[in-house]
Amino acid sequence: MKILLVGSGGREHALAWKLSQSPHCEQLICAPGNAGICEIADCVNIATDDIVGLVDFALSEAVSFVVVGPEIPLALGLVDELLAKGIAVFGPSERAAMLESSKAFTKDFCTRHNIPTAKYDVFTNMEDAVAYLDEMSAPYVIKADGLAAGKGVVIAQTKADAEVELGEFFSGKFGDASACVVIEEFMAGHEISFFALADGKTVLPLCEAQDHKRAYDGDLGPNTGGMGAYSPVPGFDGPGFDDKRRIMDEILVPTVRGMAAEGYPFTGVLFAGLMMTADGPKLIEYNVRFGDPECQVLVRRMDTDLLELMILASKGKLADAPAVKWHSDSVVNVVMAAQGYPGPYTKGETIKGTDAADMQDGVQVFHAGTVRGDDGVLRSAGGRVLNITASGNTIEQAVARAYTALDDAIIWPGGFVRRDIAKQALHNNKDQKQ
Ligand code: AMP
Ligand code: GLY
Repeated sequence: MKILLVGSGGREHALAWKLSQSPHCEQLICAPGNAGICEIADCVNIATDDIVGLVDFALSEAVSFVVVGPEIPLALGLVDELLAKGIAVFGPSERAAMLESSKAFTKDFCTRHNIPTAKYDVFTNMEDAVAYLDEMSAPYVIKADGLAAGKGVVIAQTKADAEVELGEFFSGKFGDASACVVIEEFMAGHEISFFALADGKTVLPLCEAQDHKRAYDGDLGPNTGGMGAYSPVPGFDGPGFDDKRRIMDEILVPTVRGMAAEGYPFTGVLFAGLMMTADGPKLIEYNVRFGDPECQVLVRRMDTDLLELMILASKGKLADAPAVKWHSDSVVNVVMAAQGYPGPYTKGETIKGTDAADMQDGVQVFHAGTVRGDDGVLRSAGGRVLNITASGNTIEQAVARAYTALDDAIIWPGGFVRRDIAKQALHNNKDQKQ
């Protein structure tokens, strides 16, 4: 099959690596891709939000299957447009993508289908929103309804701070995305991401991952798209726990059933952001695509043909899918970002040593914002730039391998990393062994 992959991040390099190993993949094209993807796929310079350009290209090149990486083209209806032209695609329709593109839709949907989540209400004006704060207690969780690149959530410690934030949201802090605001109860617990595939009716569970959203060590600094991830997560679904079954039975299965019942069957990746509370798992938010950088660790753990699962999902035949197999290794991903990210940063800096890092035991570098010039030199071209992934027999070994590769091989003075990726997991492991 001729496959078109849409996207240009670390997630898409990881997907390209995985899809290209499938016997179903005869040719892999990526729009627009990055320097790493260009080494294993034919890259074509069409932006991920250019829906007309992508559909025209898929038609003119007789692409047989499209895989969509990021959320923006999903929310813009790329899947609907491709299906209308008879092109098979893996991903949710524009309406089904509302599980990510509208937090208000998702919260109301959870209420209709009895899916556990934080108590909340939805507001379009300051006065009602401020009045609702009196019904809640600190800390106050305030969210922009629409897509805000993972940055549209503020947790205010006092009512005064919450009022200031609400004022900013309603005066366009996130443009149209914050014209509608969700205020919700603060949930205490441990956060985890869980991934599953869906075909409109059936849910196929994949696995859990832990990401690190803040920019700096110790979970300090601004929220980012994610500075690192690891999987499996020690303690998750361990002996005496029933985490995975409860997530499936109480959250994912009712979601896919509910979406079908409401007329928006969901096909694609369901990425549930969950709070594991004393009362069990509760939904924080849905994303309708793989996480970045969670995807990078997930595909390295997966020992099943992902492209085949995606094709089955697009045909509504996930019930026929083989059981998903996983390597026994732990996998860690450390993101290397440009100084300044997630604020303003410099592009065009020379990066060396990615090939040398790749040659180290268990290490694989997935590119994000990179370009290779006509001179053959690799340069930075985005905020998040490299993903150093490493597998190991233990999470300790995986962490050590990732940081050793980074320190010994990668030369990019303008880059920074968090030094504490998976540190929590190392602590938990130690506690469990004692
Ligand atoms: P979201 O974009 O909805 O995932 O929110 C971003 C982050 O805010 C989450 O990863 C949580 O750390 C935090 N968060 C969101 N909603 C809640 C909540 N109701 N209670 C506690 N923390 C929350
Ligand atoms: N790493 C979080 C996300 O992809 O949304």
